[in-house]
Amino acid sequence: MPFFSHVPLAPPDPILGLSAAFAADPKKQKVNLGVGLYKNADLKTPILPSVKEAEMYLLSSEQSKEYLPIDGYRLFIDKVGEMIFGASFWASQQERISGFQTVGGTGALKVGGSFLREEVNHPILISEPTWPNHRGVFSHCHLQVRSYPYYQISSHTPEIDQMIEFLKQQAEGAIVLLHASCHNPTGKDPTFDEWKSILEIIQRRKLLPFFDCAYLGFGQGVEEDARAIRLFAEAGCELLIAFSAAKNFSLYGERVGALYIVSENQTTAQHVTSRVKQLIRTNYSNPPIHGAGIVRYILNTAAAKTKWMGELQEMRQRISEMRQRLSSKLPHQRFQHLKEGFGMFCFTGLDQAQVEKLKREFGIYMPPDGRINVCGLNQNNIEYVVQSIERAIES
Ligand SMILES: Cc1ncc(COP(=O)(O)O)c(C=O)c1O
Repeated sequence: MPFFSHVPLAPPDPILGLSAAFAADPKKQKVNLGVGLYKNADLKTPILPSVKEAEMYLLSSEQSKEYLPIDGYRLFIDKVGEMIFGASFWASQQERISGFQTVGGTGALKVGGSFLREEVNHPILISEPTWPNHRGVFSHCHLQVRSYPYYQISSHTPEIDQMIEFLKQQAEGAIVLLHASCHNPTGKDPTFDEWKSILEIIQRRKLLPFFDCAYLGFGQGVEEDARAIRLFAEAGCELLIAFSAAKNFSLYGERVGALYIVSENQTTAQHVTSRVKQLIRTNYSNPPIHGAGIVRYILNTAAAKTKWMGELQEMRQRISEMRQRLSSKLPHQRFQHLKEGFGMFCFTGLDQAQVEKLKREFGIYMPPDGRINVCGLNQNNIEYVVQSIERAIES
């Protein structure tokens, strides 16, 4: 008897499917602006020198491949915790913070979402638009997923007033997913004053903030990109943070991430830790050693950390330069917003027909919503991209 003949065909992942179509496109001149990775001026994603140094260290010093504890390397959790919360907050408040090394940022979102489903089970509110996988991950946690307004496409600015109005209407306990920095896909973050207004309504309505922190250091710097999280933590909120080391350490396939849950007090945190460990144990048992070993070494070795901060700055500068150059080469008012955002992604404002035309006629690839990753640009292809966009919008 066939057991699986009823299984439906799931649609391909929209972003990964785009890269496959790009690879198969025979055009001589083509540009992939749809990828989710940082690329350098040669359009490569190389291993950072600080990461290579850490790997050499691991290779020479590692004695065993034993299992890690369920929650991972303690030193990794401490060092990443210091970086996110700030050293003094971490030192004074860590008793009430549960920390877990996870399988990437996605793993942190999933473990956090599963914990919330079992212990809180309120709806989770995600921004409209957001990283498409948010809806998928939280739906698979069996949480009720709703969207809050975030972005005004006509002005290319976050619509924080509408977001706040929406949050005012929510029942107590709703979970609010926030992008700590470099909002994906819009590239537009709230100002610090807007973060204060968001915090105020979250506290007043007794909502639970859950920060997705996938681009720490890609916007304005590690300290600056952690400001919103620190604002909420220092205000005494209970909150969750899903951290990814994929982009800022360029460790994509190593799957390094962390989940932090800030509770009201130490006793609650101990209970939370025990429950999340149970969830992890029955899922993947314990996290992998290599990638987190790299991050642990870098953050715990002063010279390696300085080197990494320099590499991170270089990545950040290239991203910002590509944003500036693209918007200055496209003379239209409608593209001037591109230079104002942070992180790799921005919404071009191109419509589906224009996106399709760019793909079909010019071999320029981006998802149907017109989001681009500026790291797909370099000095060899930027003129071509600009001319192609101009041709696509004039027809
Ligand atoms: C907003 C956002 N969150 C989370 C992730 C997941 O990161 P990871 O590759 O560490 O799972 C990404 C990756 O693209 C992302 O853009």
